[in-house]
Amino acid sequence: MFDIIAVVLSYLLGSVSFSIVIARLVKGIDIRQHGSGNAGATNTLRVLGKGPGILVFLLDIAKGIAAIAIGYALSDGAWTPVLCGLAAIIGHNWPIWFRFKGGKGIATAVGVIATLAFFPALYAGIVAIAIIAITRYVSLGSLIFAALTPLFIIWLDFSWPLLAGALAICAFSFLRHRTNIVKLAQGTENKLGAKKEA
Ligand code: G3P
Repeated sequence: MFDIIAVVLSYLLGSVSFSIVIARLVKGIDIRQHGSGNAGATNTLRVLGKGPGILVFLLDIAKGIAAIAIGYALSDGAWTPVLCGLAAIIGHNWPIWFRFKGGKGIATAVGVIATLAFFPALYAGIVAIAIIAITRYVSLGSLIFAALTPLFIIWLDFSWPLLAGALAICAFSFLRHRTNIVKLAQGTENKLGAKKEA
């Protein structure tokens, strides 16, 4: 019973879309109608600048960490924290508080994976940051982070529940980045630092 409560609470927490809240507070706009249209840290950076972008990134990471903490607090099962992390990402992507139109879940996934499997997240994060620094494509770095974490989890011999969770996060990430993948292939993807309305 507490497992179900933990997962539901994590979904409700994940549904608190900080980019939407902060864009409304700072500029009175719906972030989903600007830039790439995504309710996430990258688009907040693009539309509102560095301060709000970094704040949203940190809060979305914290949301992922908090969901895992809820899982550990309410259950001692190996699967519950993983399911709580997934629920937070699902909430971020399809938020109940904002008509189910949210983000792509990467910052929340960083918080989730870093809490569950620190070194896989660290190694994948280092590669992702290098890719973003070289190419200026945040979406490419995000996809590489999502794809590498299950591989590092296998390599470092983490548990099955963590591998299953990382694979599910990878699947969600690719699903939510469909438009970015097409734009990357066409060479029309937004680069970091380039202001562009969708
Ligand atoms: O995490 C989201 C990022 O990978 C892409 O965001 O706004 O460029 O679609 P955006």
